Amino acid sequence: MTPIKDFKQYFNRDHLWMTGPVAVAALLVLLVLVKSCQGIVYLNSNECKIYKLGYPIEEARVLAATLRDAQADSLIARQEHDTLAYPILSERYFILKNFDRYLAFNKKVETGTPLSNIIALVNIGADQDRESYAVPCDTSKGPLMLVNGRHYLDENYKPDSLATFSKSYCYEDQKAQRVVVDAFMAMQKACKEQTDAQLMVNSAYRSYEDQIGTYKRNPKGYAARAGSSEHQTGFAIDVTSRQHPMRWPFDTSEEGVWMREHCHEYGFILRYPKKQSQVFGFAYEPWHLRYVGLETAKRVHDEDITFDEYYAYYLDKETE
Ligand code: DAL
Ligand code: ZN
Repeated sequence: MTPIKDFKQYFNRDHLWMTGPVAVAALLVLLVLVKSCQGIVYLNSNECKIYKLGYPIEEARVLAATLRDAQADSLIARQEHDTLAYPILSERYFILKNFDRYLAFNKKVETGTPLSNIIALVNIGADQDRESYAVPCDTSKGPLMLVNGRHYLDENYKPDSLATFSKSYCYEDQKAQRVVVDAFMAMQKACKEQTDAQLMVNSAYRSYEDQIGTYKRNPKGYAARAGSSEHQTGFAIDVTSRQHPMRWPFDTSEEGVWMREHCHEYGFILRYPKKQSQVFGFAYEPWHLRYVGLETAKRVHDEDITFDEYYAYYLDKETE
């Protein structure tokens, strides 16, 4: 066969009829190759592996696009269709880093536990063994520091400075952070104008040592262990009124109801509300207010969540 010397010559009229079919065949081969490669890649994708576990294709697509690689791997490794995996993605307080824990916790709780409870409990760490989960409280967050059974304060922690409440508003000397004293004064003034009752501070700042005594004296559930009490931060106050000095009648009194409804307008939140006490297992304390500032107080109030949930979702979401 003589080599083609002149390329142009090859494409003369006599050969031109061949170029069409050759090009088409080449294209078809290329297309088949590309499609086969795509098929192999898809078979190895997380979306396909999740789909093969029995998830509808749309759910598989969303799960694969949302989950981190390690999370997708562990979902696939379970070799089963977990009916919780997809719906939790659209839960209001879903936090991606907790995905595996939600699924694991769901298997431990009673069947029928609402999804929102599973999300809330895992977010606040209730699925974890307390000793292994406990972390020091991040006091650099100031009025937004979280103190609870899992976020503890050092026995030496003391607020930098404390202000004293005027004697007219407490039965014995009480101190708290300056912002707390000011916010309480504004709140009690409004309460007096609107209900004619006088709010009183029963207890405010308590040192680590004070809290040891408080813990011993109070019924189980109504006092935190030393190191786990917000009173040590100087941002918490226990409030009743001159008219209803006992905690329980205060709860249903006009001023008690007023305080619950309006305290967020002064930067306070009800730290242990009734609704969540059933879910989280802490005691309802209608007298215990925590100062968190106006913006956070409004959000906690409007979203009807606890500060623990707020902290997990808004302040701690991205940390590992
Ligand atoms: N009463 C609350 C839980 C405390 O002792 O801090
Ligand atoms: Zn308290």
